Amino acid sequence: LALLSAPAQAQTYPTRNITMIVPFAAGGPTDVIARIVTGHMAQTLGQTIIIENVVGAGGTTATTRAARAANDGYTLITGHMGTHAASVPLYPKLAYHPEKDFEPVGLLAGTPILILARKDLPPKDLKEFIAYVKANETKVNAAHAGVGSVSNVSCELLNSVLGVKPIGVPFNGTGPAMNALVAGQVDYMCDQIVNAVPQINGGTIKAYAVATAERNPSLPDVPTTTEAGLPAFQAQAWNAIFAPKGTPPDVVAKLNAAVIKALDDEAVRKRLLELGSVIPASADRTPAALGTLVKNEIAKWTPVLKPVN
Ligand code: MLT
Repeated sequence: LALLSAPAQAQTYPTRNITMIVPFAAGGPTDVIARIVTGHMAQTLGQTIIIENVVGAGGTTATTRAARAANDGYTLITGHMGTHAASVPLYPKLAYHPEKDFEPVGLLAGTPILILARKDLPPKDLKEFIAYVKANETKVNAAHAGVGSVSNVSCELLNSVLGVKPIGVPFNGTGPAMNALVAGQVDYMCDQIVNAVPQINGGTIKAYAVATAERNPSLPDVPTTTEAGLPAFQAQAWNAIFAPKGTPPDVVAKLNAAVIKALDDEAVRKRLLELGSVIPASADRTPAALGTLVKNEIAKWTPVLKPVN
């Protein structure tokens, strides 16, 4: 076996289970997207893909572990705008670099950001919410998934647009943060749409606006931030698969082909669209396109975000 060359290994890859690290708690947007897409990829690859939720430090604990894993295609990570871009300016001592320590595999989904609140928060619409947060800045709190997570970065952006500094309440993912919002234990949250559609439609939380140019088809009654009077707040995140640096190109190509096949599958598309996510266009699905996205996102967030340590 040791005499097999790398291309020969790639021809037979995968011969055993693959571990997909998810850097946040189960039931959150990254976990949900990873499970939808890898469920289909496993059929294409003929092997089980085991999801391992590794939480902590806004996703950077898990991402460090993935960066240090063997680069043989058997350990992958579903990262996102936080772990693979915003973390760079926020954590000056970050133990990995998204570009230098990973091979981009493929973009899974775009995830519009919503401004959400517990259902009994008094404001009825976004204008009232803005006035309420400004008037109660020292009392209201915003749930998030740790420094550098999408929910943290999005609400930091919102807070800077509003000129407020409410209290942040960190969780190990917006799955548990959403549970706290539903239970009325926290006031508001800026979350990826995937986590929120079932709750909004079930009436367990409020949605003030979606921070994209157009309304989302999964939530036709939720206004855009522009319609609701806050055009300066625009935010959409993304989730994508990465492999440790040095993973053989043939293995990356096989994984990317499996991602593309999943994104073309009717049942996968239906599920992703029902949850409000945006399915990447063909040109955005290559490893090179993901590499460019990461580079551009680091350049975009670096001047905006201030280090926390
Ligand atoms: C999660 O899956 O919990 C999220 O992606 C967390 C976040 O980044 O806000």
